[in-house]
Amino acid sequence: MEIISSCEKMQELAKTWQKEGFVVGLVPTMGYLHEGHLSLAQAARKKCDIVVMSIFVNPTQFGPNEDFAVYPRDLAHDTKLAQSVGVDYIFHPQAEDMYPEHYSTYVQVEGLTETLCGKARPGHFRGVTTVVSKLFHLVLPQMAFFGQKDGQQVAVVERMVKDLNFPVTIVRVPIQRQSDGLALSSRNIYLSEEEKKQATVLSRSLRMALKAAQNGEKNAAALKELIYQEISRQDLAKIEYVEIVDAVTMQPVTELKEQVMIALAVRFGKTRLIDNIMIPQNCED
Ligand code: PAJ
Repeated sequence: MEIISSCEKMQELAKTWQKEGFVVGLVPTMGYLHEGHLSLAQAARKKCDIVVMSIFVNPTQFGPNEDFAVYPRDLAHDTKLAQSVGVDYIFHPQAEDMYPEHYSTYVQVEGLTETLCGKARPGHFRGVTTVVSKLFHLVLPQMAFFGQKDGQQVAVVERMVKDLNFPVTIVRVPIQRQSDGLALSSRNIYLSEEEKKQATVLSRSLRMALKAAQNGEKNAAALKELIYQEISRQDLAKIEYVEIVDAVTMQPVTELKEQVMIALAVRFGKTRLIDNIMIPQNCED
């Protein structure tokens, strides 16, 4: 496995792969890898000739009061983990190379980015779509792998790829969870033991809502209330949002009709956690 840190070198290499007809898979990450990230790399390994994992803590997607400076980083450990699942190249650019002086160009998806996390984190998705566009131009992948864990992010990236005609297939990978249901996240290390225990309420409340939907509850307000009630039983949990949205447009629905996503963001102390579940159209048992 090789680590590439220059944008220019990355693109030169990508062009040679393109000429030779290799199927290149890109796994974009911000590092501090866990099994969730590795599941994306494993999916890429199965489908692609060359697997590139990018590791870049992207400054443009963090707000001024967010955790950019303290976001966990451990390239040495990441390198070992990436190698263990068969990643061929790590692309680890420097911020000054990605965003040099006078940098002025951003990619903005409208509509879908204004709900859920977009509401709470203004500018966040603009940073994500900008860096993902840059990565697509630098790595020239045929396929790119994203986790369902960030359900709005993958919907936004799919929209961007369609709207801007990127020749890239987006592959969605299911959420990887601990055995107690907590979705794996690089930010889980911020949680105390008690917060970790209480945070299992997120997946539990989503499963309860799925069950209620399967039993015929179609009213979004009723399903949201169920989740609110369950989460509110945990004294350390501060709900930022619980929302039921159309899976493609990310706009809130009042009744379950098309495929929807129930998404939530909850704070435990300083730590903001997100989780979601997809409810298919005809979900009744
Ligand atoms: P990061 O949070 O490092 O996540 C990288 C990828 O791993 C994302 O596609 C995310 O959805 C996926 N992922 C994280 N936890 C997961 C889990 N428990 N199960 C399955 N997949 C999981 O998301 C980002 O970085 C950035 O916004 C990025 C796309 C790299 C742009 O900077």
